[in-house]
Amino acid sequence: MNILAICGAANKTRNTATMLKNAFEGAMGISGAAGEIVYLYDLTYRGCIGCHSCKLLNESKFARCAVNDDLTPVLKKAIDADVILIGSPIYFSDVTGETRSFLERFFFPGMTYNKDRVPTYPKRPKVGWVFTMNAPGEFYKDYFSGLIAMTRRIIGEAEYVMAYQTQQFEDYSRYAATAFDVEMVKKRRLEQFPKDCQAAYDMGKRLAAAQI
Ligand SMILES: Cc1cc2nc3c(=O)[nH]c(=O)nc-3n(C[C@H](O)[C@H](O)[C@H](O)COP(=O)(O)O)c2cc1C
Repeated sequence: MNILAICGAANKTRNTATMLKNAFEGAMGISGAAGEIVYLYDLTYRGCIGCHSCKLLNESKFARCAVNDDLTPVLKKAIDADVILIGSPIYFSDVTGETRSFLERFFFPGMTYNKDRVPTYPKRPKVGWVFTMNAPGEFYKDYFSGLIAMTRRIIGEAEYVMAYQTQQFEDYSRYAATAFDVEMVKKRRLEQFPKDCQAAYDMGKRLAAAQI
């Protein structure tokens, strides 16, 4: 069983990457699981260029991204994965630009404009999203439901876990950031974040177990 984790956060040790690693470990604990974590910020690539090659009714090009760059091998692995875990911080009320560019390149070849809208990829992986943000959780409920619905339509059954009101700075006094309730944020980091990591672990485990 192939597990692919995609980290759309720049930092490999902070909130998003930590939760994603937990989700990955949960999935990798299921017997027969093999996989890796790909860090998007290590790669040089761009988003969809709208060449429409993936929609051409031609066997070799159809449903594959024609752009050739560092993302190409990652897209191949994603198409062959049984479980895909994707982590992104929320930047300006969306996933990060790198995550978005990955999505464009992965999702667009996975769909057609045919009337039946049947997804093109041969497998239907389980997808687990990990989101982290400094706003209160209810701010983004609608955004997540749209992204989850799109993931389900094109890729496979999807769910998400999130950490909100995350700790953004180690020492808040050094930054222009007086709007934060620092005590609350630090308390959440100590008490809530381990629970968020556990929820991520459980999600990874559940999704991988469902693919046996
Ligand atoms: C450029 C930038 C934009 C951000 N925009 C938002 C936002 O729109 N909403 C929000 O809740 N948090 C926002 N944040 C905060 C991050 O989402 C939050 O700190 C997140 O947990 C960071 O993840 P990391 O610790 O993995 O880097 C932003 C942070 C940065 C650096």
